[in-house]
Amino acid sequence: MAYDPLNPAVTSNPYPHYAELRNSSPVKWIESLQGFAVSRYDDIVEVLRDAQTYSSSKFWPALLGEFDPVPEVQPMISMDPPGHVRIRKLANTAFVPKSIAKFPPKIRDIANALVDDVIARNGTSGTFDFTWEFAALFPVTVVADVLGVDVAKRSSFKHWVDDVLSAGNRAAYGPERLAQIGKSSKDLRAYFEALYEQRLAEPRDDLISAFIHNEVEGEKLTKVEVLNLGILLLIGGVETTTNLLGIMFTILRSRPELLARLKADPALIPAFIEEVLRYDTSVQMVFRHTMKDTELNGVKIPEGSLVLPLLGSANRDESIWDKPEVFDIDRPRGQVMSFGNGAHFCLGTYLSKMESKIALEVLFERFDVLRAVNEDAKWMDSYFARGPTTLPMEFVAHAGKTGATVATAGVSHG
Ligand code: HEM
Repeated sequence: MAYDPLNPAVTSNPYPHYAELRNSSPVKWIESLQGFAVSRYDDIVEVLRDAQTYSSSKFWPALLGEFDPVPEVQPMISMDPPGHVRIRKLANTAFVPKSIAKFPPKIRDIANALVDDVIARNGTSGTFDFTWEFAALFPVTVVADVLGVDVAKRSSFKHWVDDVLSAGNRAAYGPERLAQIGKSSKDLRAYFEALYEQRLAEPRDDLISAFIHNEVEGEKLTKVEVLNLGILLLIGGVETTTNLLGIMFTILRSRPELLARLKADPALIPAFIEEVLRYDTSVQMVFRHTMKDTELNGVKIPEGSLVLPLLGSANRDESIWDKPEVFDIDRPRGQVMSFGNGAHFCLGTYLSKMESKIALEVLFERFDVLRAVNEDAKWMDSYFARGPTTLPMEFVAHAGKTGATVATAGVSHG
C-alpha cells in the first residue's frame, strides 16, 4: 500500500510507510495532499533551518482557513524571520525552564483534582475513558491557568480549541459541522477580547497581562497580536499534550514490565517520556512552502510547493537511532524531532515535558491499577495529529490517598 496520509489504514500505523519512504523515495510527491513528503532526519533539519527557501507563512491560513479566530495578523508559528523573532523573544521568556519552575505545585493540584473527579464519577475501581476524563482536560486546564483564563471555563475552552483545530480537516465536513466550527472560533475570540480588556485595566500575574504590558524591543504588542498569541498557545499546547498522554498508555498496555519499573522508580519517567516522544509522537508532520525553485536530496521542488517534513519518520530514521523500531527507555538520548527544529522549535517543549511527568507521577501514586482495556487504540482521524480518540482504562484507586492529602503532602498545618 502506498503512503497516503488520508487513508485511515495508513494513519493508524504510518511507521512501515515511513520506513519505505526513507528507503526508496525520501522526498516524494504525495498526490492526495498535493505536496512533497520529506522523510529523512537530515533532510528535515535542512528544511526546518532554511526559512528563506521553506517558508512557514502559509501554515496557519492553510490549517485554519476562514476559521482563524484572529485573521488580522499571523501567529508566530506562521511567520518567517525577521518578524517571527520579535514575537518569539517576548513569548520565549515565559516558557524557559526558569520561568516555568514555579508551576509544578499548581500542575500537581490540577492532576490530583482530575483524579478526584474520575473517582467521584466512577468509584474506586472499574473503567473510565482516560482520553476524555483525564488527558483531554489536564493540558487545557494547565495552559488556561498559565494564560490567566478562568478555570471554570475549561470545558468550553477544550471544546472551542478542538473545534478550531478540527478546521484542518474542513474539506471533509458538511455545513452543520462547519457552522459549529465557525461559532467556536467566534466564541474563542470574544472570550479573549474580554480577557484582554480586563487585564489591560487590571494586570495580574499571568501571561495575558505580561503579553499586554511587557515591551519587545521598545514596543508593546498590539491587541490583535496579544489575542493571536494567547490563542496560538492554547491551540499549540492542548491537543498535542493530550495526545502524548494517551499515546503513553497505549505503549504501556503491552509492556507491563515497563509499567512496573516506572512505578518502582519514578526517576525513570523523563527517559520514558523522551522515548515515547521519539517512538510515537503526537505531531506527525509540519507544513512549509517553497519561496523559490529548489532541490532536496536530488528531487526538484518548484516555487510555491507544499513541503511536509514528516517528524514521526525522522524519529525512526535508522541513520540516527540504533534499532529505531524498538521501544527502549535505556537508549542513549538523541535529539528527537517531535518538537521540530530551528527557529520554530516548540515553545512549549519544557512545559509539556513537565506536565507529562507530573501527570504520570500523580497517576502512579493515585492508582494501583491503571491499564488500557483494549489491545489496539482507535486513532484520531487526522493526517498530521496523532492520538487515541478514546482510551478505556481499567483502574483500581490507591486506598487512603485523596487529592487533598496528596496535594498538600509535605505542607505543615501547624
Ligand atoms: C507533546 C507536546 C507538544 C508537541 C509534540 C509540540 C510540537 C510542536 C512542533 C512540531 C512545533 C514546530 C512547528 C513548526 O516547525 O512549524 C511546535 C511549535 C510550537 N508549539 Fe508546540 N508542541 C507541544 C506542546 C506545546 C505546548 C504545551 C505549547 C504551549 C503552551 C506549545 C506551543 C507551541 C508554539 C507557540 C509553537 C510555535 C513556535 C514558533 O513558531 O516559534 N506546544 N510545537
